[in-house]
Amino acid sequence: MKAYLAERYGGPEVMHLGELPEPVASKGEVVVTVRASSVNAVDWKIRAGQLRFISGSKFPRALGTDFAGVIHSLGEGVRDWAVGDEVYGFTVTATGSPGTHAERVAVPVTALRRKPASMTFEQAATLPVAALTALHGMRVCGVLAGKSLLINGATGGVGHFVLQIAKARGAHVTAVCSARNAALATQLGATEVIDYRTQDFTTGSNRYDIIYDAHGYLKFGKARRVLNPKGQYVTPLGLPTVYLRSLVQNLFTSQRLLVANVRSEPQDYTELETLVTSGVVRPVIDRVLPLAQAGEAFAASERGGLAGKIVIAP
Ligand SMILES: NC(=O)c1ccc[n+]([C@@H]2O[C@H](COP(=O)([O-])OP(=O)(O)OC[C@H]3O[C@@H](n4cnc5c(N)ncnc54)[C@H](OP(=O)(O)O)[C@@H]3O)[C@@H](O)[C@H]2O)c1
Repeated sequence: MKAYLAERYGGPEVMHLGELPEPVASKGEVVVTVRASSVNAVDWKIRAGQLRFISGSKFPRALGTDFAGVIHSLGEGVRDWAVGDEVYGFTVTATGSPGTHAERVAVPVTALRRKPASMTFEQAATLPVAALTALHGMRVCGVLAGKSLLINGATGGVGHFVLQIAKARGAHVTAVCSARNAALATQLGATEVIDYRTQDFTTGSNRYDIIYDAHGYLKFGKARRVLNPKGQYVTPLGLPTVYLRSLVQNLFTSQRLLVANVRSEPQDYTELETLVTSGVVRPVIDRVLPLAQAGEAFAASERGGLAGKIVIAP
């Protein structure tokens, strides 16, 4: 089958469209025919070797974490699922699971979610990593109604979901993004938009109850200058060092350092599906590219400037 492969760790040059053996469903797994996958920052971080201490050394390998598609075959012991079922979910490629930028992928049934009929495959493929991380970050903050919330990187994959969920929960949202995405941020519900290229919000006079760093590179030490005394800072960088820092930090200051992570919780999926199928949250798709142009999708994701997510459709 065709897959977008990495031959080793490295830059974009180590990836190409190639052939991998047909996946076979082991016990407790199904093989899914991928109808859409989406690119996440973690895909190219894995390719670059930034997670090599957990992502192993098996090459060539397909990257890609999110998938939406149709069940193609069932492994031993699989109940409750049938060939032809429409599903979506994510695989933990960071720990060596097969990637989803491929025609087919074997996944454990625990990674499967039934795709709502009113959601397209492309929409479903944008949700798992980005929207579940956005939602988890909102959950750890607690009540949002009436709070001032700034999103750093508000129109990217994670950010545009945070923006819409926060708005739906009654927060007053300030979006930090590039000028080309300012109109999108306003459309999605931001009341104020800051262009990070021309203004450094961490030196301004406004204070926020919550800062969600959906870009992933804003230091807590910098963010806390513009956080209220009991403010919350949320990062999607779930590294052990960040968890450790949050444990120590939160003992000594009333400003909280919180971590958002992708989690496969049924209640999170259910809430997301309700938000999307009711139209409260709209997955924004910058563009859909065929598998043969996956390199272009990776380049666009790494370069930045996307509105929402970029989708690959084998
Ligand atoms: N822990 C987890 O489970 C988890 C899950 C998902 C993501 N993440 C992490 O979350 C981060 C974001 O992921 P993503 O998929 O949403 O990436 P993304 O789609 O590339 O979004 C990044 C956003 O940051 C903005 N940005 C770029 N430079 C900026 C700057 N100097 N200041 C403020 N904003 C800036 C970009 O805006 P423009 O494009 O307009 O320039 C873009 O909207 C990554 O670090 C990723 O690894 C973690």
